[in-house]
Amino acid sequence: MPHINGPQDGPVAVTGASGYIGSHVVRCLVRDGYTVHACVRDASRKDKTAHLLAMGEQGPGTVRIFSADLLKAQQGAYDEAFQNCVAVFHVAADLGSDPNYGRPTPQRTFDSCMTATQGVLESARQARTVRRVVYTSSTSAVMGLRPGGKTAEGYEYKDDDWAGEGPYETIEERWTVVSPRSGKVHKLWTLERQAYAMGKVEAEQYAYRWGAEHGIDVVSCCPCHVLGPLLIKAHDATWQHRIGLMLQGRSGHRGRPNMLWNIVDVRDVAKAQVLMATSDVAKNGSRYMLAAPDSHGELTVQELLDTLAEIYPNVDIAGDYAPPPTEDQPHGKSAKAIRELGLRPHTTRQTLRDTCESLFAVASVKPALKRAQSPQTEAAKD
Ligand SMILES: NC(=O)c1ccc[n+]([C@@H]2O[C@H](COP(=O)([O-])OP(=O)(O)OC[C@H]3O[C@@H](n4cnc5c(N)ncnc54)[C@H](OP(=O)(O)O)[C@@H]3O)[C@@H](O)[C@H]2O)c1
Repeated sequence: MPHINGPQDGPVAVTGASGYIGSHVVRCLVRDGYTVHACVRDASRKDKTAHLLAMGEQGPGTVRIFSADLLKAQQGAYDEAFQNCVAVFHVAADLGSDPNYGRPTPQRTFDSCMTATQGVLESARQARTVRRVVYTSSTSAVMGLRPGGKTAEGYEYKDDDWAGEGPYETIEERWTVVSPRSGKVHKLWTLERQAYAMGKVEAEQYAYRWGAEHGIDVVSCCPCHVLGPLLIKAHDATWQHRIGLMLQGRSGHRGRPNMLWNIVDVRDVAKAQVLMATSDVAKNGSRYMLAAPDSHGELTVQELLDTLAEIYPNVDIAGDYAPPPTEDQPHGKSAKAIRELGLRPHTTRQTLRDTCESLFAVASVKPALKRAQSPQTEAAKD
């Protein structure tokens, strides 16, 4: 099927529209003049829909809100929302960001990726008007467990690398290791341990097969550590929440003290998705890793703390926390999206600054000040 040309073709739908990435996708589309069917879990949650309606008020596009439960996708939960739509941006997944719905079990996480995507695709087919589905996968489906264990130092992931690697039937076998000492069998690629990566791998692979079968393009983006402006308080979750903790003088490592931060701006993730819908280069099965714009976007924990301290010299970033050495992965860039889609990413410094400013303004984060009364930025110093 051809790509869509723009808002003149018809409405488009966004799943997970209230979420961090989904809200930016809606914003981007409305700014481009689209009529957006914004799908949320619960339309009565004003704290998660008011900002979407405000976007529609501002235009030039418009927003209509639809309630649809991802976990009921296979029962046609998205049928109504997708009617007349020419493209579907399938962003939703249950990451447990909203404590009101409880912490998802591995099975629920997996289902929200894999089985829900099956249902979303079926609703897209039922609509008979959808030409392209843009799926938000994850670098977990690119950079997750790989044969041979860890990748070589400095390994630069490519957009067509797959976590697990190989057809699913063989993955479990491939990832079964026997301890030489105890003889104990460890299964590493299991739903218990890898629900999210497995869900994304399976959903993507299913979606491309489905796309080929039904003549509807499915193209995916695989974001890494997404940061950038929060639009509502509910977006104070995942990586951006950890930045907020650092601003409050805390370590913010949350059990992952030695990760390499590979940062992509949420506005770039949204823009890339709109470009993927309209691209005549992208086709069924195209994948775009959305990660650091360049090597400046790959930061050790210490480099991240140092950069935040440079931006906010008055703030006691992470207190006296001394991070352990950072692992040399995951390396990967948005190079293909920049080359093929013409994406023009924000600089990582801008992304970090805008994340922090929105944490102060939207999430009421109170920075741990060293001396002065308010967080002084680099710019304010000049
Ligand atoms: N953030 C990252 O760094 C990152 C990196 C790689 C990939 N991703 C992918 O990007 C997508 C969006 O993530 P995000 O960071 O924007 O997370 P988020 O803010 O938690 O957004 C997730 C969205 O999915 C919706 N959702 C969850 N369970 C649902 C259900 N049962 N029924 C209907 N909607 C449901 C949420 O609705 P509610 O608002 O009602 O909770 C929310 O709108 C996900 O597919 C995620 O896997 C994110």
